[in-house]
Amino acid sequence: MIEPGVERWRRLTVKEGWRQFVTDEPTERPERMSVGDYRRLNERLKAAYDRERLRHAHGFGPIRSLYADIHQTLDRLVTSNERRRRGARHGAALDGNPGNGKSTIVSQFGRQYERRCREHYPHELTPEGHEYLPVLYVNVDALPTIKGLNEAMLTFYGLGPLRHATAQQLTQLVLQCAQLCQTSLIIIDDIHLLELRREADRDANNHLEQLANDLQATFVYAGVGLARSGFMHEVLLGTDAALAQTSRRFRHLPVKPLRRSTPSKRALWLGVLSVFESELVLLGSKAGDLCGQADYLWRRTQGVIGSLTQLLTEATAEAIDSGSEQITQELLDSIDIGYAAEIGAGRQQRRRAA
Ligand SMILES: Nc1ncnc2c1ncn2[C@@H]1O[C@H](COP(=O)(O)OP(=O)(O)OP(=O)(O)O)[C@@H](O)[C@H]1O
Ligand SMILES: [Mg+2]
Repeated sequence: MIEPGVERWRRLTVKEGWRQFVTDEPTERPERMSVGDYRRLNERLKAAYDRERLRHAHGFGPIRSLYADIHQTLDRLVTSNERRRRGARHGAALDGNPGNGKSTIVSQFGRQYERRCREHYPHELTPEGHEYLPVLYVNVDALPTIKGLNEAMLTFYGLGPLRHATAQQLTQLVLQCAQLCQTSLIIIDDIHLLELRREADRDANNHLEQLANDLQATFVYAGVGLARSGFMHEVLLGTDAALAQTSRRFRHLPVKPLRRSTPSKRALWLGVLSVFESELVLLGSKAGDLCGQADYLWRRTQGVIGSLTQLLTEATAEAIDSGSEQITQELLDSIDIGYAAEIGAGRQQRRRAA
């Protein structure tokens, strides 16, 4: 269903929004001004500069080193699927806790894949005259049923809502859309939200299996706790003999927080902090402002990229607003980044269950 008031091109889960995301480039970093030059700006220009700095803090390109290995695995999977002539193609399931960067990894993979496809075939229509849409991206967040998943897929293609269609009719339509539009990569995000009752697990699995069998596409799933619960447990670990065939077809790719226990892991953590140091434009910042607080920042965020991003963008907004123009530990201390991260950092007590 299309939410009223939300333009289609703003949402990743419809073809217009996805296309925009594929073509958009990351924001350009505003130049770092001297304090003197900044003070000489009039209020309007100051406000515009501040807005740009903040926009860039939220919109700079993702840090590729965080997922280069997963992208390489996905690239290999797609390549080997392209060579496979018959039978269902192999897929991958990215599995990790909230904030570990799964949606970023799968959406960026889809973006790069579509760019490559469009370089190779630079036409808007397929040879048969249908819209060429090599990637389908859906999210199971709103309607966690098979019907809902089908509807989400059709919404991406610009169809629906089809209130009177049966589940089977919807499935047929999805298959048709994907075939006609030559969709060869299907990304299903937040798949853990699909209904997890025993019967529903089986239905969901059968449905996904049917799609995988009938489409010449690579399936990439992302979700939380996939190996522990619900139908993906069967899909990934094959504890149910009837589903074991599917489990062999899926590659389980854990998405973990950053660590600092070995020299190479620590180097990656420092590398991430140095990207933030150079992308967050603050007039009073100095080299080492963040890398010098590497241990503190790890304790606050437990290495979770989503928590780190939130902490540092909020600190940037505060440093600009207050005019302090630098991220200090005192400033970071004053920012609360939510219950789970604060418990992890030992800054809040775990709430007792009632
Ligand atoms: N490689 C990256 N470079 C820079 N920022 C990143 C990167 N990966 C994730 N982030 C930031 O971390 C935040 C959380 O990432 P993301 O939404 O991808 O996580 P997730 O695992 O899908 O979380 P959830 O399970 O809650 O959906 C995002 O705001 C994103 O901007
Ligand atoms: Mg996500």
